[in-house]
Amino acid sequence: MAAIDNVLQRIDANSSDALARLFELLRIRSISTDPAFTGECVKAAEWLAAELNAIGFTASVRETTGHPMVVAHAKAGRTGVPHLLFYGHYDVQPVDPIDLWESDPFDPKLVERETGAKIVGRGAADDKGQLMTFVEACRAFRETGGLPCDVSILFEGEEECGSPSLPAFMAANKDELSADMMLVCDTGMWNKDTPAITTMLRGLYLEEVVVRCADRDLHSGMYGGPARNPIHVLSKIIADLHDAKGRVTLPGFYEGVAELPDEIAEQWRQLPFDEHQFLGDVGLSVPAGEQDRSVLEQIWSRPTCDVNGIVGGYTGKGSKTVLPAEASAKFSFRLVGKQKPDAIAESFQAFVRARLPEDADVEFISHGASPALQLPFGSEALSRARRALQAEWGKEPVMAGSGGSIPIVGAFKRDLKMDALMVGFGLDDDRIHSPNEKYELSSFQKGARSWARILSALSA
Ligand code: BES
Ligand code: MN
Ligand code: MN
Repeated sequence: MAAIDNVLQRIDANSSDALARLFELLRIRSISTDPAFTGECVKAAEWLAAELNAIGFTASVRETTGHPMVVAHAKAGRTGVPHLLFYGHYDVQPVDPIDLWESDPFDPKLVERETGAKIVGRGAADDKGQLMTFVEACRAFRETGGLPCDVSILFEGEEECGSPSLPAFMAANKDELSADMMLVCDTGMWNKDTPAITTMLRGLYLEEVVVRCADRDLHSGMYGGPARNPIHVLSKIIADLHDAKGRVTLPGFYEGVAELPDEIAEQWRQLPFDEHQFLGDVGLSVPAGEQDRSVLEQIWSRPTCDVNGIVGGYTGKGSKTVLPAEASAKFSFRLVGKQKPDAIAESFQAFVRARLPEDADVEFISHGASPALQLPFGSEALSRARRALQAEWGKEPVMAGSGGSIPIVGAFKRDLKMDALMVGFGLDDDRIHSPNEKYELSSFQKGARSWARILSALSA
């Protein structure tokens, strides 16, 4: 029997223990953005380091200025093999609105449905379930004769809040983190039976805008009319950001946004993607956004501007006749191609300032910016990974783009000159960042088998 078959058998034999281990990790409330959960982030990091030490890695929890990193190393039994760095994040998004959860987000459940069993809980798909697919693959190698290549692991605890400690940590640990290539399990499949390799990620620029007018809240009868209303000022700015065709109106916004190469546009046209079903699944029917672009093109290869939250004035029950002193909104821009985050930040701030009438002031609170990422298409590693996924799923993997952002992948490419192989087993309906997040049991189990095959293929 080939060595890989032993490993795959071991993964299958371990599967119920693997699920119990994942549940332990899912019970830890590692919400990175909320300081109330700092201790839980430490707990998740310690749990992971202990788990990795138990399967033959030398793992440690490493302090940063924010939540800790977990770094681990293990060597293959032989030399002349590649050195791969696996990345995942143990932090999760906040759970609110908590009322919409059907069960406690941190008391994971295996739920049987007609379409198969699902693991339900915060972080099931993003990213604890996914990172454990890799850990389980390593465990099976370890239990059947050893890893096929040298493996390092980096688990981060701040991905969901923009990785503020990452640049300093990377700079201080450059040699230790350097490897031939990075493996990332934080993306999705094409559909439940078809794997995908993600070769493009959108970048992200986050900015909060606070508009202030009067120096206190005012009675809207006594002052309404002459007193400037910051909600009106902010709404006008928001309305001006898109034209009637759904294009973003910021000057220079589309600089560095290239048209898709014909070859890729053709590949995407061939993909069986049903816009109506995609929107129908979330209760929508007509595509918004750029009117001359397909839905898939919009998500994978076009930049956007969105408002993620807006507050101002009285939002409690009943009514209150108030003219607020302040209004604020959180903006996110998804970036593609060669768009420059700094240039867009500058253009946006100028755009806002140019629309401030008398007596209105603005404060900007930036929450980070990272450019888009495009990985090479023709690499040897990519073809090996394709064959490995094909062997596991019986289907050719889709070469996919992704609407989401994983800033660390760009940072590794820029600073450590490392390319990434991004393979993940999430599905569009996993409800990541939402109530009732889930991960398919089949994603968890076949995900581990897929990594075993990929590691073996990359080491041959
Ligand atoms: N895993 C996601 C990114 C993702 C989502 C990749 C969907 C592929 C498909 C990641 O955890 C995430 O949520 N990233 C954030 C970025 C961040 C700075 C908060 C995002 O994309 O909003
Ligand atoms: Mn993620
Ligand atoms: Mn996420």
